[in-house]
Amino acid sequence: MNCQGLTPSWQARHPRPHGQSHSRNRRQRRPRQANRARPRPTRPAKIYLAARSLPKAEAALKEIQSKAGSNCAPIALLHLDLASLDSVARAAEKIKAQESRLDILIANAGVLGAEGTTKDGYEIQFGVNHLGHALLIRLLLPLLMHTAQRDDVAVGETRVVIVGSFAEKFAAPADVIYPFEELERGGAPSMMGIMARYGLSKLANVHYAAQLARHYPEGESGVRFVALHPGAVRTNLGELLKTWPRVQSVLRRLMGLFVGMVSVEEGVWGQLWAATWPVGRVDGIGEPRSGVFYHPVGVEGGGTPLAYDEGKAAELWEWTENTLKGYLEGA
Ligand SMILES: NC(=O)c1ccc[n+]([C@@H]2O[C@H](COP(=O)([O-])OP(=O)(O)OC[C@H]3O[C@@H](n4cnc5c(N)ncnc54)[C@H](OP(=O)(O)O)[C@@H]3O)[C@@H](O)[C@H]2O)c1
Repeated sequence: MNCQGLTPSWQARHPRPHGQSHSRNRRQRRPRQANRARPRPTRPAKIYLAARSLPKAEAALKEIQSKAGSNCAPIALLHLDLASLDSVARAAEKIKAQESRLDILIANAGVLGAEGTTKDGYEIQFGVNHLGHALLIRLLLPLLMHTAQRDDVAVGETRVVIVGSFAEKFAAPADVIYPFEELERGGAPSMMGIMARYGLSKLANVHYAAQLARHYPEGESGVRFVALHPGAVRTNLGELLKTWPRVQSVLRRLMGLFVGMVSVEEGVWGQLWAATWPVGRVDGIGEPRSGVFYHPVGVEGGGTPLAYDEGKAAELWEWTENTLKGYLEGA
């Protein structure tokens, strides 16, 4: 899967079913007769592909362009190392300097099985999968909210999609969640193995989306925050695990769970649905709701009880805000 997708100026929306209103919410808030007749472009005006390795991103870009041909939307590459808060801040600055709108942000990149710390000294899986994304989202939120206020954008059409995982279920033991002091020291409680630490970072993805929805309600911010598990997808995610002999039994267990793994093409359905399903369209899967955690595609309620623990989610929110304070001041 791609590293990270940021999509400004996304004006391409799925065609609305015949006779269906665009958005009741939007019309209540801001009547816009003139917009109805406006022709809608059929593709994003621009996509940012953010990656820690620009050579890899260039290769991915070439592949995308050759597959999409003349239909390919303009794609810009953006250097982003989620393991460095400075790098995240620089990437967000670049977007803000270059764009006047940002419609969709997909927080997709992730690591599984990595050991060590981020450049800022946090446990690596938590640092990359949660903290790096959290800073990116928070720094770009003003631009997203600004976009959501535009007359040609419906409430809830601006989206932040956070790719979590069913692996949130490995975030055990529940009584030590969240072990912030350990995570700050670059480690995690000794009873927490690699999978538990990965699970913890994915639990954080689910909690963070729920807290964003709580702190920035869609009716006020215009932005919808969605967390999802993409399914068991054949990607490079498990590569690092194979280099760790002592987790081979875990790997085998996982492989068992992964029976029925899907292709990358199918694995992105959830993200695409969450990012682009039109506001107010109720047929089929229906539209995603802010703060909800979905399994593929559009299935609610698949998480563990911990995934819906508002107290733990609030603790994570508070810690994250405090930790990122230096970067958020004045943003
Ligand atoms: N595959 C599954 O079955 C599955 C299941 C549940 C959830 N997920 C989630 O889906 C998301 C995508 O994973 P994937 O399966 O597509 O794995 P993947 O093929 O390994 O892709 C992960 C991407 O994240 C990038 N990345 C890693 N560390 C980064 C950093 N510090 N800064 C910026 N980018 C970084 C990687 O960049 P490089 O190319 O430079 O390594 C890679 O492009 C992850 O959040 C994962 O937790 C996957």
